Amino acid sequence: MPIELLGVVKSFSTFPTICIEQFRIADGERIALVGKSGSGKSTLLNLIAGIVTPTSGSVSVDGIDIGKLSEAKRDQFRAANIGYVFQTFNLIQGLTALENVLLAMGFAGKHKSPETRAKELLSRVGLENKLRHKPRELSVGEQQRVAIARAVANEPKILLADEPTANLDEQNTDIVLNLLNELSSSEPRILILVTHERDVAARLPRSIDLKSINKI
Ligand SMILES: Nc1ncnc2c1ncn2[C@@H]1O[C@H](COP(=O)(O)OP(=O)(O)O)[C@@H](O)[C@H]1O
Ligand SMILES: [Mg+2]
Repeated sequence: MPIELLGVVKSFSTFPTICIEQFRIADGERIALVGKSGSGKSTLLNLIAGIVTPTSGSVSVDGIDIGKLSEAKRDQFRAANIGYVFQTFNLIQGLTALENVLLAMGFAGKHKSPETRAKELLSRVGLENKLRHKPRELSVGEQQRVAIARAVANEPKILLADEPTANLDEQNTDIVLNLLNELSSSEPRILILVTHERDVAARLPRSIDLKSINKI
């Protein structure tokens, strides 16, 4: 499921934040996207996820221009194909770890026994004993792992992770990077990991500096 951006401009005000002539990510690629704070990394992920629509140009995923889809179709497309690990986790505070994963699975409706899969995934990220814990009863590293389990629950083709290790200590950074690398070696097929840390970027096969593609 390749991703292709063509002539993409995104402006929030007078000046564009993103201006990319052409950028293509092939199926199976795992890349680190690096760049300074405020350079547009999160905006680029949001464009790929269809959370932000371009001011002009096209973002195509598997040949489908996602900007041309209706909002409902775009939401459907995102639920089925894209996993997103947000920098601030965005877990729902009133729900348990298990319920957070199950809720995301409900939107896509891909699995016959979602509860079995959600429990399996949470054990894979080492949280088999914390299924009924709410986010505030979990450490930051554990919350990030719930967010990862949730992001891959629907077997997305594309996994996007926005600074997933920014709030973690060295040990948890290692755990999270191993998980993301491991989980994205089959499904999902594409991993885009945003980071401002060079040593984190070095853990992925390819690294791209946003500056080199963003002609603002
Ligand atoms: N929803 C928004 N409304 C207005 N400005 C925004 C919005 N999202 C991002 N921006 C602006 O776009 C620029 C890039 O932001 P962002 O993509 O978050 O950068 P990064 O993730 O690299 O730190 C910033 O100047 C930011 O203020
Ligand atoms: Mg950001």
